[in-house]
Amino acid sequence: MIGKLILGVVAIVCVSSYKYIFGAYSIRFFWIVVKYLYLKKLEDLDDKGQAKSPFVELVRTTKCCLLECDFFGYHKNNVTYFTELDLCRTECTLNALHRYFKLAVLKKESLAYVPLASICNHFMKETKPFENYEMRTKVVGWGDKWLWLITVFTGDKVGKRIYCLSLAKLVFKAGRKTLQPWDVVQLAGSTDPDVCKKAYRNEERVAQNTNNVMQLLKVYEEA
Ligand SMILES: *[C@@H]1O[C@H](CO)[C@@H](O)[C@H](O)[C@H]1NC(C)=O
Repeated sequence: MIGKLILGVVAIVCVSSYKYIFGAYSIRFFWIVVKYLYLKKLEDLDDKGQAKSPFVELVRTTKCCLLECDFFGYHKNNVTYFTELDLCRTECTLNALHRYFKLAVLKKESLAYVPLASICNHFMKETKPFENYEMRTKVVGWGDKWLWLITVFTGDKVGKRIYCLSLAKLVFKAGRKTLQPWDVVQLAGSTDPDVCKKAYRNEERVAQNTNNVMQLLKVYEEA
């Protein structure tokens, strides 16, 4: 009787927390990669020969499950934001620069990977257990070396209060070589110099405001 009860509770925790079962992270990660590199078709360029904007927003939603929570504060553990952030940045980059990655796959060329160089999270409000939350991510800018992404976590209810804002700095690597972001963006089909000017301006803005959530949010909204 007790045995069955314990088994039942364990089963409920596991099923509701499927994201934290051994191997789940890798499956979620590779699903994104497969979806963008193999399933999603190459998008056409517009009349001016441009791909979609590299600043396009990517939205993911998920639920705060039990194993994600810390049991002292009874809210989403702050460290677990980083797992979701990995997936957000991966999907956002693959989507925003889809043409670059897809063409490399079609031509069987090696493609750059985009490791994380640094990250700065601002935790604003706790996420409650079983609460749905939304993550919006954009490439907001770049410079000679770094690519900057911002992710905003909000609740999914009216008002959409901000739970967390994350600023990440990434770099394009092809083997040991570092690629310039603007080169990659052009390969991805955005060749308008104004796009690049805006990206450089935004790099300055975020680099000067890493601790200013309001300013970072403004850069995000304007990107
Ligand atoms: C996590 O962040 C929230 C704010 O979102 C804060 O209230 C809480 O104290 C933090 N938890 C820990 C363990 O630092």
